[in-house]
Amino acid sequence: MNISGNTILITGGSSGIGLSLAQKLAALNNKVIITGRDKNKLAEIQQRIPGLHICAGDLSENDGIRELVEHIRQEHPDLNMLINNAGVQYNYSFLTVSQLSEKIDYEIHSNLAAPVKLTSQLLPLLLTREHAAIVNVSSALWLAPKKSAAVYCATKAGIHSYTKALRFQLEGSPVRVFEVIPPLVDTPMTAGRGKAKMSSDEVALHIISSLSANRYEAYIGKSKLLKLINRIMPSLAERIMKNG
Ligand SMILES: NC(=O)c1ccc[n+]([C@@H]2O[C@H](COP(=O)([O-])OP(=O)(O)OC[C@H]3O[C@@H](n4cnc5c(N)ncnc54)[C@H](OP(=O)(O)O)[C@@H]3O)[C@@H](O)[C@H]2O)c1
Repeated sequence: MNISGNTILITGGSSGIGLSLAQKLAALNNKVIITGRDKNKLAEIQQRIPGLHICAGDLSENDGIRELVEHIRQEHPDLNMLINNAGVQYNYSFLTVSQLSEKIDYEIHSNLAAPVKLTSQLLPLLLTREHAAIVNVSSALWLAPKKSAAVYCATKAGIHSYTKALRFQLEGSPVRVFEVIPPLVDTPMTAGRGKAKMSSDEVALHIISSLSANRYEAYIGKSKLLKLINRIMPSLAERIMKNG
């Protein structure tokens, strides 16, 4: 995949991995549109990094997805790359959590349903492009879950499976389907927990080099090692990740 001269939509580009990717892809001569829930945060980023385009909305809601798709159709019909990066992670025990239904819905809608719906609604546009790509951000936790984030891990396993099946469906079309699998990364999502985290800038560089090398399943940093351990000794991978 050529990593210059594209029009790229990055969901959740107002923070962490998405923001690092946006900065680097914009510097590589791409038109980049970022989304997030917080309008003010997006406006502040746009002031700091001129050239970035923004669109605010909550993708856990069908209206948020519909409005974003309409915005892209009207303002950026040259879109040829969608990076499904937005996500949330809740850590809790089913034994003590309150407002469980709301938490389950929000996490599943944001992390799994939204990328699937957004992709299907933007697919007709992407199919008109000579070269196009869909990039889904999953997690090493799809391989082996941690006990405190059961629903999050399930959404990431879902994204992994969905991405593979979509890749099969789009074989022979101009749309390439990528999955990137980061390890633990130092972002607001992981604030106050975990050690030896990779920086979001480093992850963004790995993602860009994977796209340019057409690596369709890109395990990044310690995710690569976890994949190997999981193949040789799944019970060890489980033990490593369980209390993560
Ligand atoms: N950090 C890690 O260790 C790690 C590891 C593996 C995979 N990942 C994955 O990488 C992706 C990015 O994570 P991150 O660590 O960079 O997180 P982050 O810094 O918390 O950023 C998350 C981004 O997603 C947006 N977002 C969240 N829920 C949304 C919703 N319902 N609608 C629209 N936008 C929403 C946020 O918008 P606001 O700024 O407006 O809140 C923000 O821009 C996620 O898919 C995450 O699961 C992260």
